[in-house]
Amino acid sequence: MNKPKVFVSRVIPAAGLDRVREFCDADVWTDQLPPPADVLRRKIAECEGLLSLLTDRIDGPLLDAAPRLRVVSNYAVGYNNIDVPAATARGVAVGNTPGVLTDATADMAFALLISASRRIVESEKYAVAGQWKTWEPMGHIGQDLAGRTVGIVGMGRIGYAMAQRCRGGWGMRVLYHDQRSNEQAERDLGAERVPLDRLLAESDFISVHADLNDTTRQMFNAAAFAKMKPTAVFVNTARGPLVVEADLAAALQKGTIFAAGLDVTDPEPPLAGNPLVGLRNCIVAPHIASATVSSRNAMAEIAADNLIAGLKGEPLRAWVNPDVAANRRKVDVV
Ligand code: DGY
Repeated sequence: MNKPKVFVSRVIPAAGLDRVREFCDADVWTDQLPPPADVLRRKIAECEGLLSLLTDRIDGPLLDAAPRLRVVSNYAVGYNNIDVPAATARGVAVGNTPGVLTDATADMAFALLISASRRIVESEKYAVAGQWKTWEPMGHIGQDLAGRTVGIVGMGRIGYAMAQRCRGGWGMRVLYHDQRSNEQAERDLGAERVPLDRLLAESDFISVHADLNDTTRQMFNAAAFAKMKPTAVFVNTARGPLVVEADLAAALQKGTIFAAGLDVTDPEPPLAGNPLVGLRNCIVAPHIASATVSSRNAMAEIAADNLIAGLKGEPLRAWVNPDVAANRRKVDVV
């Protein structure tokens, strides 16, 4: 029997890619950069499956150009790059990779929090540039962590893991803002669910773990930064478009807030001249939060499982749109 045709839009760990190759007739994009939109469109025209990355925009017109496509398996927990209602309307199953990058992402958020608070990156550059002449009683003064208040925006799996680190390791008070309450966080970490304005005003550290959607896009703007403490440290490991970057840059330059640590920007990579890049009190990392061996291997395994299940017409292991079941595309491939 012919193997189903799939397109894999970048090389992913063998833990998943080997299974995809075994089960499918796989065309794997091996470039370092993502396939341009027109190339992606051409590549998937005859495919039954697509293993995509967050750098691939999957929308209605693209899905219409791939009439045999039954499944889009996204190699990420976030899926804001996919128009899920458009996929559902066309009978295409969508999968993601939740649960396996929670600790890695929370570790990165905490690393940014402590690095920005204690001015570690800035100090390292100072030392490397040969500016370190003596021990400086008044130099490189940062923010303490122990016993302070962290505000978690988005208390899902990753927000909880970040709050756990702040509470358990540094004895912080935990505030959070979310549409839903998180009973486990309230019970185990003493977390208090508060309106956003109160979180912004009372938190020493604000760590963003919210989904990107129409209600959260650009929620961190000039008005939000103006409500924060001048000593506040802002951390974003979620998605760049949650933040108005020009407003964040202005807040950092004017001292409205103390520092920021970002693993995500808008767009990625930042455009030339982005004022956040190179700013003394802002750390910008290239979206590396899930970049650990075990997280990336586990993401690859789930992405392969989702792809293969979708091709077989079975339930996906991590299924973003189970409501598609009623009208899944019927293509006789497996
Ligand atoms: C995700 O999975 O959504 C991260 O942003 C990348 O691993």
